[in-house]
Amino acid sequence: MNRLRRLRVNETMRRLVRETRVDRSDLVYPMFVAEGENIKNPISAMPGIYQYSVDRIDEEIRRVEDAGVSAVLLFGIPAHKDEVGSEAYSDEGVTQRAIRRIKEIAPKLLVIADICLCEYTSHGHCGLVCGEEILNDETLPLLAKMAVSMARAGADVVAPSDMMDGRVAVIREALDAEGFKNTMIMAYSAKFASGFYGPFREAAHSAPGFGDRKTYQMDPANRREAVRECLTDIGEGADVIMVKPALAYLDIVREAADRTDCPIAAYNVSGEYSMVKAAAANGWIDERKVVMEILCGIKRAGAKIIITYHALDAARWLREEEWGNGGA
Ligand code: PBG
Repeated sequence: MNRLRRLRVNETMRRLVRETRVDRSDLVYPMFVAEGENIKNPISAMPGIYQYSVDRIDEEIRRVEDAGVSAVLLFGIPAHKDEVGSEAYSDEGVTQRAIRRIKEIAPKLLVIADICLCEYTSHGHCGLVCGEEILNDETLPLLAKMAVSMARAGADVVAPSDMMDGRVAVIREALDAEGFKNTMIMAYSAKFASGFYGPFREAAHSAPGFGDRKTYQMDPANRREAVRECLTDIGEGADVIMVKPALAYLDIVREAADRTDCPIAAYNVSGEYSMVKAAAANGWIDERKVVMEILCGIKRAGAKIIITYHALDAARWLREEEWGNGGA
């Protein structure tokens, strides 16, 4: 008889044959930086996640370093929004100042800047707007300008999340022209128009003022088109490609991993986090077990990089497992 249970007799044996391991170095922690002073605002749908002003960012960065997480993804919330998202590409913008501060106090921490206009525009769309139309080509120079401004502030990686066509190429060209040849591009390649972004839009004040994002973000039904998006971004110079959200799209993560040779990132988005937190708060699930299972599933699907609001907790749990006092 084939006894597969031999491989499961005890934890030592299970570790020996374990195929997938989530490592602290896989995790990226998203952070929200808000314009203003002395701000630490909780986000109601995302327990444990706050908006910080730049003058209080040190305490959050200390938490990141204590947990042993080595990368953060920054989203800025400006005080003033306008039609063209001017704060997004001002060198004195809130995100740029946050990056400079982080690089001052934690130079080794990898800083990833989200590149998108939606947090900075009065209409809340990811590109320039004309009537009801979201303009593609007119938006590209602004995204390039934003990427250069973030790189100048010290960002190691820029992550375009706008879903305009052709943005990776113009961003690469602009970075190279300004001398940022080593600034990496992590492209949100297969980003779907998803209900799972709901809590984020509260956190980043970025809900669209009219309509939705379906003319630029992908239709959740399309797997083959997602592959085209990934290959297009790689062709334009993306160093890492991303699938977002993660959990309802693990088949896309697998497809991207099988069909490309790029490192794959998956974004375990706000709504996915909120669901876990809500169920855990009700005592309906064991948060630690569920989170580790989710992260393992994302990695098993083919992602190397996992962007998750659970990063700090997960990093602590992983360290405890290494020390042998825990584990599933
Ligand atoms: C900005 C952006 C969004 C997210 C990341 N970058 C929101 C959106 O596209 O509406 C979502 C992240 C999350 O839900 O955690 N374009």
